[in-house]
Parts: sequence; structure tokens; C-alpha cells
Amino acid sequence: MSAQIIDGKAISVKLLDSIKSRISERIAAGKRAPCLAVVLIGVDPASAIYVRNKRLACEKVGVTSISHDLPASTTEAELLVLIDQLNADITVDGILVQSPLPTHIDEDRLIEHMDVNKDVDGFHPYNIGRLAIRQPALRSCTPFGVIKMLEASNIDPMGLDAVIVGVSNHVGRPMALELMLAGATITSCHRHTKNLEENVKHADLVVAAAGKAGLIKGEWIKPGAIVIDIGINRLDDGSLSGDVEFATAKERAGFITPVPGGVGPMTVAILMENTLLALELNEAKN
Ligand code: GUN
Repeated sequence: MSAQIIDGKAISVKLLDSIKSRISERIAAGKRAPCLAVVLIGVDPASAIYVRNKRLACEKVGVTSISHDLPASTTEAELLVLIDQLNADITVDGILVQSPLPTHIDEDRLIEHMDVNKDVDGFHPYNIGRLAIRQPALRSCTPFGVIKMLEASNIDPMGLDAVIVGVSNHVGRPMALELMLAGATITSCHRHTKNLEENVKHADLVVAAAGKAGLIKGEWIKPGAIVIDIGINRLDDGSLSGDVEFATAKERAGFITPVPGGVGPMTVAILMENTLLALELNEAKN
């Protein structure tokens, strides 16, 4: 058996098209386009690529993007002043500060400083809390992107035994909350989990978000299981790999996402969706 490949690129293109249409309808009705402020600090090459892709997506769908490219020496106080300005600016709907940040900046403090209605990453404790109490507002892009991918593939997580590998604040934890909201029975695995293999072997749905190439062995996958690989790992030869051994997992799984071309493009599409939602929240307030 060979798994059906979930084509995140194709699903994201459809989603971006629908966002573009919704923005065009707004413009035709005399309303303004959504506006996203994108803040990049320093010269991390991977971050520069991610940010470029986000700005390109803005251009594609008709979101106005404002760039704040700041030197690595920017102090936390200076950054918080910029966030204050962006919070107060009623023409700015969403704020995205690309991580990782230089070590002298406290990321938690920065996120908590943001207007919760402009937190298009869905990282603010308020937005994580809203998801936890089944009243989602702005939802973390990657986990919500996974939910949209499952929907587009006609997969309903209700009642499935889901194993999430990785418990990061930005991905693993909100992913567990999203799957709980969707009615799955969830198990979160992490570095202290006693027997990762045993957990994965029983899963109907495996979501890998550990950031370790090849951590999940193909032979662990239950026949017919759904495998979602959020890992993006750069190998020594320069190629990209997920957290799952793709070639062997593909022979056992029912559905599987590739890396690249799986979850990655969905993250950017949801960022655009969130920016449009943030505009609606902004309009309701002002
Ligand atoms: N760095 C890597 N992925 C992300 C993301 O989704 N949002 C932000 N702000 N930074 C990131």
C-alpha cells in the first residue's frame, strides 16, 4: 500500500485564491485592504527566506505589507516602542515579528505586548487560551493549517487516536489544542516520553513537530494511519527533510504530507487568512 500524498502546496493555492477574492470584494465595495506589519530583526538567512515568502504572499492576495527590517542590535525597549506604535495604528491590522529573535530580546514579553487582535501568529496567551476553552479567535498558523489540510482531504479527526510529537509553545501545544477541539483523543509526546515508538505505533493520526530529522521511523506507522510532518530540517547535503522517515512511512500510511510542499505553504496561507480576520476585528472595534 502506498499512501495518498496530501499536497499542501495545492491546498494552500486554493486557500490563497479564496482570500484574494474576498479582499477583491472588499475593495470593490469601497473598503480597504488588510495591512500586515512584518518585523525582521537581524540577518538570519532562514528567517529572511520565510519573511520574503510571507511578503510575496501578501502581494499575491492583495494584503498591504509594511516592512520593518531592524538591525540585530535593536534593544528590547526599542522593539516594544515599535509594537506600541503598531498597536496604536488603526491602519495596521496584523503584526508579525519573525522568530528566532536575538537572545537579548525576551520573546514572551514581546508577544504579551501585542494587541491580542493583531496577533496574527496566534501566539499570545489570550489567543492560546481562547483555543483552549473552545472559543478560537486568532489561531496559530501552522496547527490551524494542519486542520485545514485535513478538512481539504476529507479527514475528520473526531474520535481518532492522535499522537503529537513535540510540545513547543508555537506548534506542538496549539496543535494538541486544535486536535482536542476537533474531537480527537490526544497524546502529547516529548523528550521525557518513556516509549515514543509504542505511542506512535497505536496512533490513527501522527503529527510530528519535534524538529529532528528521521525521528519517527517508517516502520512505526500503523497501516492506514494519517501522517502529518511539520518538521523542516536542513540536512548536511543542503536538502530539506521532515521528522518522519518519508520513504518507508509512505508505504504504510493511508495519507502523508511531504517535506517540502506539505505543511509549510499552509502556514503562510493561514497567516493571510488571519490578517483578513484581524482586519474584521479591527473594524468591529474602531
Ligand atoms: N519563525 C518560524 N516560523 C514562524 C512563524 O510562524 N511565525 C513567526 N513569527 N516566526 C516564525
